[in-house]
Order: sequence, then structure tokens, then C-alpha cells
Amino acid sequence: MPEPNILLKNIGTPNSDQLDVYVENGGYRALKRILAELMPEEVVELVKKSGLRGRGGAGFPTGMKWQFCASDVKTPKYIICNADEGEPGTFKDRVLIEEDPHAILEGMAIAGYAIGSDQGIIYIRREYIYGAGKLQEAIEQARKQGCVGKNIFGSNFSFDIKVFLGAGAYICGEETALLDSIEGKAGRSRIKPPFPVNEGLWHRPTSVNNVETLCNIPHIILHGDKWYKSFGTSESPGTKIFSVSGHVNKPGNYELPMGVALEELIYEHAGGIRNENRFKAVLPGGASSPCLTSKYLSVPLDFDGLAAVGSMLGSGAVIVMDHTTCMVGAGLSIARFFEHESCGRCTPCREGTYWIVRLLERIMVGESQSGEIDLIVNLGLNMRATCFCPLGLAAQGAVLSFIGNFRDEFEGHIKEKCCPLRAY
Ligand SMILES: Cc1cc2nc3c(=O)[nH]c(=O)nc-3n(C[C@H](O)[C@H](O)[C@H](O)COP(=O)(O)O)c2cc1C
Ligand code: SF4
Repeated sequence: MPEPNILLKNIGTPNSDQLDVYVENGGYRALKRILAELMPEEVVELVKKSGLRGRGGAGFPTGMKWQFCASDVKTPKYIICNADEGEPGTFKDRVLIEEDPHAILEGMAIAGYAIGSDQGIIYIRREYIYGAGKLQEAIEQARKQGCVGKNIFGSNFSFDIKVFLGAGAYICGEETALLDSIEGKAGRSRIKPPFPVNEGLWHRPTSVNNVETLCNIPHIILHGDKWYKSFGTSESPGTKIFSVSGHVNKPGNYELPMGVALEELIYEHAGGIRNENRFKAVLPGGASSPCLTSKYLSVPLDFDGLAAVGSMLGSGAVIVMDHTTCMVGAGLSIARFFEHESCGRCTPCREGTYWIVRLLERIMVGESQSGEIDLIVNLGLNMRATCFCPLGLAAQGAVLSFIGNFRDEFEGHIKEKCCPLRAY
């Protein structure tokens, strides 16, 4: 299947981050069009009809989110672009930020018009200082040309955008922790409901949208909902940028219709498994997602297809592992990430992530006994049932799936007191 090249169409064009190049390639036409031809509610309706679902992980319908915000009477309202991109294995937003920043600004301004907001904030972690600089430069260029700021293109719609630098915590990508972080508090998730669409930043209606989600918007405005729905599946229309990493010949970002088969992505686009090795497992939605084995190579990569086989699409970070991978080592690496990123507020996650790492370390160094595998499973299931926020739910999914699918490897480590694959 050819790559549709919609969201990534400007990537690779020289100076694609510059306003004049963006405009030459059709940029800001969608924003001009809505200001001249569409009422805000018509924009919301068009995005609803397109079926666009958020690309940050949860897959919530974007048009519906905008409608909730638009219909709340409180003001001011905020558009927040979630550019945190903290999921291990995801690197698709970074490319859009660095090489197509005006597409993000245009998507945000259209979102602002649709919900009645005059303020946008891009939340990006401080580590991505290069990308933050690109965004800042793009905002300044757009302001000078009247594409953002007061009375955009001479209309009576005003919308300005700021960049907010986060401190770089995985949990701050979760939308409510992100809001607390902007408000100057420690980045920790809020209880939902109330949802940000009604009680968001400073308790005002707020639409938090992922970078890739926003980049879809100008295309939907220009080409319409029917065109958009001609890509992907009925429940997950459009294209998706998959960040493929791990043991493939050609790691990278691939934009393909939602619902593309996993094996097509790996073998046709990402060049197959390195060194002609055998496929062993894949994390289709980054470190937060349960793994899939070769039995599921034909699974469609979309929100529902992956949920149906017990995993998730998340932000589309496809991490491929070949037959040389030690699943205990891979599990430990992921568990260490979550131990580090747990915000520490609730006991099941703070203690659970800590003890899963300690138990996996014991297995790795041959100090473990067989009951300890079940102890990890127990800890994981308890976390799943009792953690306060979605990070705790995500933190054990991959490790439990490794044990579920490759238990013999965990037992092999315990029996042989070393890695049976001699990977360590
Ligand atoms: C632990 C955690 C981390 C998250 N990190 C990100 C992130 O880095 N970027 C992002 O867009 N969404 C992230 N999300 C999802 C956001 O909470 C939210 O659903 C999303 O930004 C909404 O935008 P969308 O509707 O366009 O997907 C994360 C969620 C969780 C639970
Ligand atoms: S599950 Fe609990 S400790 Fe873990 S990140 Fe969420 S609130 Fe913090």
C-alpha cells in the first residue's frame, strides 16, 4: 500500500518550517477559508463528521471534545497543544514540530475559532528545546503576517499562541497533570470528572489536543469529511503516523491509513526484521501497551483492532523485537522507566513500580525463586485495580504481557541462574 503522504507531505522540503514555504504549499488556506465561509459551529460539525479521533493515545473524537468546550458558557477558553511526546518509542510529533510547525499553529487557530477561544498554549518539554525554538520562531513569523494574533487576516477573530516549557515528566503528557503543570503545581493527574472541556486550565473550558490531531485539521477543512473518511476504517478514519523502532531494517515514521496490518507496516514499509532474524514480539502502542506475538501479525493497527486483541494503539509507537530479545531484560528496561516516572502520590503505583523492578532484577541476576514470577503478576494486577491514574494502569501492561507470553523465559532465568538466550 502506498504511503498517502498527507500529514508528512511537507517533511523533507527545504525550509519547511518557514512561513513562506508553508504558504507556498497551501498553508493557512484552511484558516482563511473558515474565517471567510464557516461559522464556528459549522467547523465543529465538519470535524465531528470527519470522525477524527485524538492521536495522543485515548482516541477520543475531536469534534465531540470541541463541541463540549464550545457549548460551555465560561470564558476565557483555552486550546492546548499537547507536544509532550513522552511515550517511549514515539517520535512522530517531534518531526511535525521541527519541520512543520505552522501546520500545528494553523490547526490550533482553527480549533480556537471553533470553540470560541482566543488563547492557545503549546506544552512542550524542556528537553525538546530545539523544537520549542522552532515553534517560537513560527509563532513570531505568523504574528508578523497576521496568521495569529489580533484580527487574524483582517477578520474579527483574534487568537494568540504561547509556548510553555514543561520540566520533562512522562505524567505531564496526561492532560490533567499537564494543566496542573502549567498552573505552576506539581504535575499530577486530577480526578475526572470534571473533564478539562469544562474545568480545564484555571477551571476554564479547555481543549487539549495532540500535535498530530491538530495537523489533521487543515486537511479536513480543505478536503472535507468524505475525503478524510476515504482513508482508514469506519471507526478510525484518516491516516496515522506510526513511529517504528527496534529490530527492523528501516526504523522511522510511516504515515499509513488507520487499520493497516501490522505485518505490512513491519515488512513492507519498515524493511522487515534486521539480519533476517525472526520476529518475536511487538509493543504496538509504546512501552504502555501489552505486547503481541507473531499470532497477531495480521491485526489491523487502529484503536478498535488493537483493543480487540488486548493491546492498544496509544500514540502509534511500534517497538519491534526479534528472536534475540531477552524478554526479562526488555521487561526490566520498561519497568525501570515507569519506576522513575511514577509521581509517587499513590501507594500501589509508587510501591508497585519499585517492587516490580527489584523482582525483575533478582530474576536477571539469578537470585530469584519461582514464586516470584507470580508475585510480579500479583503486584501488577493490584496496580491495575487500585492505581489512582492511567500511568499506574499503563506501568505493568507490557511486563505482565511478557510474562503471559514468554513465561518459560522467566522460568529459564530462575532455573539456569542466567539468561537462557545469553543476551546478558
Ligand atoms: C501517562 C500519560 C501520558 C500521556 N502522554 C501524552 C503525550 O505525551 N502527548 C499527548 O498528546 N497525549 C498524551 N497523553 C494523552 C492525553 O492525556 C490526552 O488524552 C491527549 O493529549 C488529548 O489529545 P487528543 O485528543 O488529540 O489525543 C498521555 C496520557 C497518559 C495517561
Ligand atoms: S498511579 Fe498514582 S503514583 Fe502513579 S503516576 Fe498516577 S497518581 Fe502518581
